[in-house]
Amino acid sequence: MENNLDRLLSKGPDLTKEDLVYLLELADEESIKRLYEQAYRVKLKHVGNKVYFRGLIEFSNICRKNCYYCGIRRGNANVERFQMTAPEIMAAAKWAYDCGFGSVVLQSGERVDEEFVSFVEEILYQIKEMSQGELGITLSLGEQSRSTLERWFAAGAHRYLLRIETSNHDLYRSLHPNDHDFDSRLATLKILADLGYQVGTGVMIGLPNQTTADLADDIIFFKQQDVAMIGMGPYVVHKDTPLGFEYSQRPQRSDEEQLAMALKMIAVTRIYLQDVNIASTTALQALEATGRERGLLAGANIIMPNITDVKYKSSYQLYDGKPCLDENATLCRQCLEGRIASIGEEIAYHKWGDSPHFKSGQKEKQ
Ligand code: 5AD
Ligand code: SF4
Ligand code: FES
Repeated sequence: MENNLDRLLSKGPDLTKEDLVYLLELADEESIKRLYEQAYRVKLKHVGNKVYFRGLIEFSNICRKNCYYCGIRRGNANVERFQMTAPEIMAAAKWAYDCGFGSVVLQSGERVDEEFVSFVEEILYQIKEMSQGELGITLSLGEQSRSTLERWFAAGAHRYLLRIETSNHDLYRSLHPNDHDFDSRLATLKILADLGYQVGTGVMIGLPNQTTADLADDIIFFKQQDVAMIGMGPYVVHKDTPLGFEYSQRPQRSDEEQLAMALKMIAVTRIYLQDVNIASTTALQALEATGRERGLLAGANIIMPNITDVKYKSSYQLYDGKPCLDENATLCRQCLEGRIASIGEEIAYHKWGDSPHFKSGQKEKQ
């Protein structure tokens, strides 16, 4: 048994789907510990022990979509909708720049109207100008047309996060109303790569009716898509959503079990994909106070400190239990610095932190 696990863990990119499932299903503490240790070794070898910060600005919770799991879905009337002004967003970006963060992430609900598109475009130009092109900018603004994505790229965005949510078509359909389409989401990922964005994708882990075979397929999907970054986290209930309400009546796992599944996903993804950037997402910390440190120890290397103004933070809750709602960006940053130092890792300030995977892909293209 022991040798079998060692043999599997050393297969790395050659793991089969059956191997991935086997690793995701590990249940005894000792084996899980060895899985994390191997993932950590792979991380040290390919991306080192540096953590890259991406300052997350959640600038609006207005969304045209109605995903069954998400707290800011259009149909949730209990949410007070907001949109930060351009000067407010610029102040947050400037703060990140002054602190030496390599980049910021602009995230919001999904909107495709021209007013929104040009608002974002203008912000991008302003951030580039304010930082003399130094601050990297990632967008996480949902599905958009090719022409919109072209405009935003031209204005200075160079990375884009668009989670596929799950690579299982049937599960995808069950989580979204009929106006969502798996294939158009996939097509958007392709357009992003075509346009030259560094593309990130990811899934929710531990969704109702999601199997370990689905999760193994998700990891294989990441490889097929040849993405530079992975941002994935546990599914966490939001009680004012159809899925969250249903799930809270019949929970399928404890928080600790849900967290363990997410950490195993991070570890197996690191072992299989090796040199990509993997985020230790906030949802991990929603389940357990040290969730994000545990994500780094299981193979993740990116943290997205929330730098949104406290007055808006509580209106941007995709799931219940979002941490740091009352902590401002300065406090949260200091707290994260302490957490990261506590596990012997270092923060890489003043660096974009592109994944080695993306860089080697670029070289091949040249
Ligand atoms: N639990 C965990 N993640 C969620 N997201 C939305 N709702 C939830 C939830 N209840 C994630 C989705 C989306 C990202 C912005 O937030 O994966 O892509
Ligand atoms: Fe909107 Fe994104 Fe939430 Fe879906 S997951 S409702 S697109 S913010
Ligand atoms: Fe935000 Fe601790 S991580 S205050």
